Amino acid sequence: MNAIGKILETNRYARCVETSKRVRWDIDKDVIQGRRFDPSQKFLPEGLALADAFATLSPNEKRFVSQIQGRTYANVFGLVERFINAKVLELSHDHWFGDQVALEALVRFSDEELKHQALFRRIDKMIGDVLPNGYRFDIDPNKVAHAVLGKSTWAVLALTLDIELFTQLHYRQSIDPDTGLSELFKDIFLYHWKEESQHAILDELEWVRCDAGISPDERNRAVDEFIELVAAVDGILQAQAKSDATYFAVACGRPVDPAEAREIESAFLKAYRWQYIHSGAQHPHFGKVLASLITEEQGNRIQAALSTLQ
Ligand SMILES: [Fe+2]
Ligand SMILES: [Fe+2]
Repeated sequence: MNAIGKILETNRYARCVETSKRVRWDIDKDVIQGRRFDPSQKFLPEGLALADAFATLSPNEKRFVSQIQGRTYANVFGLVERFINAKVLELSHDHWFGDQVALEALVRFSDEELKHQALFRRIDKMIGDVLPNGYRFDIDPNKVAHAVLGKSTWAVLALTLDIELFTQLHYRQSIDPDTGLSELFKDIFLYHWKEESQHAILDELEWVRCDAGISPDERNRAVDEFIELVAAVDGILQAQAKSDATYFAVACGRPVDPAEAREIESAFLKAYRWQYIHSGAQHPHFGKVLASLITEEQGNRIQAALSTLQ
């Protein structure tokens, strides 16, 4: 990179540090403020929970589904932030004796993800306090992080940028405009979004930096690893859709026959694939950065893999 490119890059890291300092928040003082969840309210908005896909359910049952999905939404973020944080700490090594502003930006990123994981653990517990017993989220974040971090940095950063961009899109397009949501749930994702905006900029800077240091063969393998990671995400979504549909059937207060139970499970899976795979894959900025790094053939390979997850 030439001298001007280096200065521009340092400025982008510096702006992330500045914004990170300005928007910094506290879990109790700013987000929770002594509040509790109200089970008469919706948690996850229709645009994400895809309430219409749950065709056999009453309005009250659809609200229960939005609460189950809201709890899972917090748990999935807590899960992915374990591997994101480990990767960020690993990448910070490249800046230890170099750009100290870039190092500070990544240290703050890591500190924020630790705080977000603590917030999401609190949310899981707080929602558990007001919903019927029996909900399960059995996926071990450390096991997932070990598996993800076994892939190349290029592939992990592709998945990370995807996640951190769709988080913001979900907030702007679905959570913020929905006037019927729990204010507490809304605030959690407002505050989360404020810090995630810097993370996505840093993911992109680090991904492009990593991309510049690998060969075409390595990149080609990394594209396959990215596809493998998306498939692994889908495996997690399938397991959780099953678990959440089972919980719904047991806790909804009426009998659910096997045919309806299958329909409910596939509606959960459809919503989860929309939330964690397709909404990100269609994100215009993610598509733009990805297309700038890969060949058309590699892009087609990714599209073909995504189209099997419907
Ligand atoms: Fe986060
Ligand atoms: Fe993040």
